[in-house]
Parts: sequence; structure tokens; C-alpha cells
Amino acid sequence: MEKHKTNYHKPVLLEECISNLISDKDGIYVDCTMGGGGHSIAILQQLSAKGKVIAIDRDDDAIKFVSTNFFEWINKDQLIIVKNNFQNISEVLASKNILKVNGVLADLGVSSFQIENQDRGFSYLLSGEIDMRMDKQDEISAKNILNSYSEESLSNIFYKYGEEPMSRRIAREVVISRNSKPINETADLVSLIKKLSSGIHVVKILSRIFQALRIEVNKELDALTKLLESLSEVLIPGGRVAIISYHSLEDRAVKQFFVSQSRTIEKSTHKAIPDKIVQPNFLMINKKPITASVEELTLNKKSRSAKLRVAEKI
Ligand SMILES: C[S@@+](CC[C@H](N)C(=O)[O-])C[C@H]1O[C@@H](n2cnc3c(N)ncnc32)[C@H](O)[C@@H]1O
Repeated sequence: MEKHKTNYHKPVLLEECISNLISDKDGIYVDCTMGGGGHSIAILQQLSAKGKVIAIDRDDDAIKFVSTNFFEWINKDQLIIVKNNFQNISEVLASKNILKVNGVLADLGVSSFQIENQDRGFSYLLSGEIDMRMDKQDEISAKNILNSYSEESLSNIFYKYGEEPMSRRIAREVVISRNSKPINETADLVSLIKKLSSGIHVVKILSRIFQALRIEVNKELDALTKLLESLSEVLIPGGRVAIISYHSLEDRAVKQFFVSQSRTIEKSTHKAIPDKIVQPNFLMINKKPITASVEELTLNKKSRSAKLRVAEKI
């Protein structure tokens, strides 16, 4: 497989995605999370001249990067780039007069480019405005959330999306702190959290709180749910979906959806009523998630938490 063009983002579980996703070399595939185009291009390299990839991203930087770096595929009309939220996959396909596709890939979360760019405000390691919007046209940034949400809402977000045990204390401190000075910078939130927690725990707390804010800003779990609900409609029978997730909330949502859609028996809630045999919608290809090989783990830190689940439309 061709080496990735730049260090925009090193694609994760690349071989594993490709080998599980492609069933027809003349087919149409959707990359819901184009990023630096690593997965999109690797898919195209396996397709015939008839095959296409519809590559979606909500981030203008990703759109600009792939549009300028992979124009040969765009010129051949094999790479079709769309700026949108993947939750609108059905509308995106309809706008291109495509009814069904052979495969759907989603590599969730943020790219290295987004994390490592201090202007984007995703990382607690870099100073800059605390923004975290994947789509800069969205109205609400992390800064808005920190300075306007109620203490209770902040606490709920930190708990629900960050699974942070100190969610209440941190929310209270945010509200106290913003009353004297707005929280505008990543460093403001970092110093507030450092004040509340000691030594070894601080990095974990920082990553949980930053993750929670990112999920809220970008409504990431809502988008994932809507994407999952659209899959049955957009995939041809035999078409596959491959989803890479990076934290337990995402992986749980994907797993639960695949399990529920591949069920052949619906359990009765009453003893007197027998279980019902139902027609499954999907076949789970891997019961356990696929994780990175030892080799990939040594080469790409981001692959450490990656979990790939694959299912096939029946
Ligand atoms: C982990 S990166 C994907 C990297 C890509 N697979 C590659 O090889 O370069 C995730 C990308 O998905 C995009 N993204 C995340 N959620 C999205 C959504 N709901 N709709 C569209 N794009 C989304 C992000 O902007 C980011 O560019």
C-alpha cells in the first residue's frame, strides 16, 4: 500500500479496514471521515477505474488538504469530496444521485492535524483559544459552553461524556472561575483542573474533560447514532460497514447497534408470551473488535485505543 502523503494524519488500522470493507472493485464506497484522505486513497487504490469514493468531512481544513493533494483522483471523477456532517449521509448520496453504496467507513474522532493545531483548541497540551469545533461554521465552541452553560449542565457533560468522577467539583470551579474572568484559553481550563487535582491523576482528568467538551461541541454521539440509523437504507445487501472508535462511549454505541441489528430472536418480556423469531438486518463480521497489531502500535500512538467493528447488510 502506498505511503501516506504527509503527516496530516497517519491512518489507523488501514489494511484491516480495506480487507474487510471492499467486496466489489467497481463499487461505490463512502468514507464518512475523510480527514487527510488516508483511508479514502487506500480504498481507491484497490478499486477499478469504475469504482468511486464519496469522501465526507465537516472540517474545511480537511476538505482543502485533500482537494489540493489528491486532485488526480478528483480529475478521474473517482474521488468525490463533500463537506457535510456524516449524519446526513442519505442526503449527501441523494444529492449525487446515488441510491445505495457497497461500503461505508467511519474513522471516528479527530485527526492529528486537528489535535496538533493550536488554533483549533482541542489539546490540553497546546495553548490557544479553547474552540474544539470541527466545523468552524458551527455556532457553539467549547469557550461558549464553558462560559454560558449552567453548573449542572457542565457537570452532566463532564460525567456523561468524560466519565469523570470529579465532574461536580470541576463544574463548580468553572463557574466560580468564570465569574471573575472568562475561560477563553486551553491554559485557563488546564490551570483550574491542576488546582483541583494532584500529580498522577491530572493527565487523566484533563483528557476526560477535554474529551467531554469535544463531544458536546461537535454533538459527536448524536451524529454517530444518526449515521448508524441510516446504514440499513444506504447499503446494498452484502455491503459492509466498518467503524473505528477511540473511546468506550463510541464503541458501546456501535457494538449495541450491531448486536441489536443482528439479533434473530426477540426476547419476550412476559413468561406467557414466547420469544419471537425476527429477520436480522446485519451480520456481525467480528464479535470482538479488531485492534492494532504490535507493529502498528509501535509506529502509531493513536492506534492504541482504536477498535474496529465490521458488519454486513443482509
Ligand atoms: C480520525 S480523523 C479521520 C482520519 C482519516 N481516516 C485519515 O486517514 O486521514 C476523523 C475526521 O472525521 C471528521 N469528522 C468527525 N466527525 C464528523 C462528522 N460527524 N461528520 C463529518 N466529519 C466528521 C473530522 O473532522 C476528522 O477530519
